[in-house]
Amino acid sequence: MPAKLSLSLVALTAALVVSFGSPARADEAAPAGDPAHGAKLAYTCLGCHAIADYRNAYPDYHVPKLGGQHPDYLVSALSEYKSGARQHPTMRSQATQMTEANFRDIAAYFATATPAKSGPAPVGTPPKAAEVCQACHGPDGVGILPEYPTLAGQHADYIEQALRAYRKGTRQNAIMQGFAGALSDADIRELSLYFARQKPGLWVPALPKG
Ligand code: HEC
Ligand code: HEC
Repeated sequence: MPAKLSLSLVALTAALVVSFGSPARADEAAPAGDPAHGAKLAYTCLGCHAIADYRNAYPDYHVPKLGGQHPDYLVSALSEYKSGARQHPTMRSQATQMTEANFRDIAAYFATATPAKSGPAPVGTPPKAAEVCQACHGPDGVGILPEYPTLAGQHADYIEQALRAYRKGTRQNAIMQGFAGALSDADIRELSLYFARQKPGLWVPALPKG
């Protein structure tokens, strides 16, 4: 995509994100969470999210990697389970027991390492369908704004599951439902494999010692 077009797309969508009520508006920055309290709240989460290659049962796909996601995105993801915009039953029951302040504490705990960074160059040739995605998720899947999740190094089957859910409308997001609706099954497969193979990418957070 020409640089000028992708820039205006980004500006447009940055405006969209603000108007759809992102928690990260510059003029009302949310207070930073407390990572020590977050560690206590996150204890049960680690039973799934800190186990490498842990899988969801029905349907079968990997539990997403959280290490390296920006804290603002983690807060927004948890809020979406709480609101019902995302429908996973376990995640909904976890999130509905918590407050926004709890989400910020947990996000601060998972984000004690710095967010995922780009490598020297993207790995492999991006599929044609990735052009539009790269305006927000970056050339190699590292989100260019805190609200845009990093896809680099994420499990391919989780990325695929997410794209299918947007396309079906069982995961609601004004921005992503539009983009995913235009994808074929083959596009979804190729895009998932491309972003999953990017390095260094996201990681599985470690279990605390002791
Ligand atoms: C039983 C296993 C399990 C437990 C316990 C669990 N999760 Fe999850 N989590 C999942 C699965 C599976 C998904 C993917 C759900 C989907 O497809 O939407 C997920 C998704 C997420 C996401 C979205 C990731 C993304 O890339 O958008 C976040 C954030 C998250 N979990 C945080 C937590 C936190 C915080 C806790 C504890 C309060 C927790 N999870 C407890 C299994 C679990
Ligand atoms: C305008 C910016 C923008 C564009 C372009 C865009 N996305 Fe997204 N994407 C987002 C935002 C914002 C979210 C978070 C939505 C949510 O919370 O469900 C997201 C979420 C996702 C997720 C879920 C990640 C997770 O951890 O659960 C995947 C997968 C994804 N996008 C893939 C793509 C692909 C593939 C394309 C191109 C076809 C694309 N996106 C285009 C902004 C964008």
